Amino acid sequence: MQPATTPVPVRSLDDVRELVAGELTQLDQLIESSLRTDVALVSDVSRYIVAAGGKRLRPLIVLLVARALGHSTESDSRQLQAAAIIEFIHTATLLHDDVVDGSALRRGRDTANAVFGNQASVLVGDFLYSRAFQMMVSIDDMRVMRILADATNTIAAGEVMQLMNVHEPDTTEDAYRQVIYRKTAKLFEAGAEIAGLIAGRGEDTLAALGQYGRELGMAFQLIDDALDYSARTDELGKNLGDDLAEGKPTLPLIHAMREGSEAERALIRGAIESGGIDRLPEIVAAIESTGALEYTRARAQEAADAAAVAIGNLPPSVHRDALIALAEFSVTRRF
Ligand code: IPE
Ligand code: IPE
Ligand code: MG
Ligand code: MG
Repeated sequence: MQPATTPVPVRSLDDVRELVAGELTQLDQLIESSLRTDVALVSDVSRYIVAAGGKRLRPLIVLLVARALGHSTESDSRQLQAAAIIEFIHTATLLHDDVVDGSALRRGRDTANAVFGNQASVLVGDFLYSRAFQMMVSIDDMRVMRILADATNTIAAGEVMQLMNVHEPDTTEDAYRQVIYRKTAKLFEAGAEIAGLIAGRGEDTLAALGQYGRELGMAFQLIDDALDYSARTDELGKNLGDDLAEGKPTLPLIHAMREGSEAERALIRGAIESGGIDRLPEIVAAIESTGALEYTRARAQEAADAAAVAIGNLPPSVHRDALIALAEFSVTRRF
């Protein structure tokens, strides 16, 4: 008789990756082959950013949802296609985002715009979006198409909405939440939903999966905005203070203005209005003295908890546990 084995608990991002290691290798191959083009600059820029890695969180969610529903890429390669499409859309948003934000560091290396220039970044971003759409067509399911088309459009609208809030110190927490839902959470929501759709699930399961992705995505961006004031650059792989440099009113600043002294409020208002990181140390001090990072992390934890609750009715499995671990990772991450 075989000894009973105790399943190893899934905790870290590496544990989660290990669970679908074979599929991640296949995903890398699919990404690589899908980037093929006869235009050298497209290859250079896209391979530059893809080779830098990234956490691959969004495709992981697609693959894990598929597995949690008893569906795998061996039984259906559309799940792998979906995972690659989501990562391409994400990568395109990063290329454009770094141009718009004037960012110099991404994934621990100089941004594509810093190396190849803004024009190449914008155009290769367009190439990735449109390649993603070509791959969607190959899935040949109008419902998948609809979710991904809506998500891509929502992200673009969210980035524009954020642009309208830049240099606007009276941006409310609610307006901020609308931006982060659109620019970030929507793609996580779409990824979880299409994996459920391809696995042939009905409306109730799709709604639960969508909620899981949405809540995780909110947690993820809330923490991203806290990390912009509190991470270590060598761990995060991005420069700190990028949000302040642009005058972006993210939750740490919104909360610090709400709770701070008159002088702190004036300091932060001025920094949002003018942009620039000259007064970053004083602003970080105000963020710390008002508990703004704790407040932001608490909102992220609420969202991650809601993500775990949302998938509570899926059959228990190590893959469901891994999805819960990813929601938790979105809050505890340092990179
Ligand atoms: C960065 O996303 C953009 C945000 C939504 C904050 P990730 O932190 O998932 O980027 P990579 O793919 O791991 O580099
Ligand atoms: C990320 O916004 C959202 C998208 C890329 C659509 P941020 O501007 O906050 O992301 P980082 O901090 O540059 O990764
Ligand atoms: Mg940015
Ligand atoms: Mg950010």
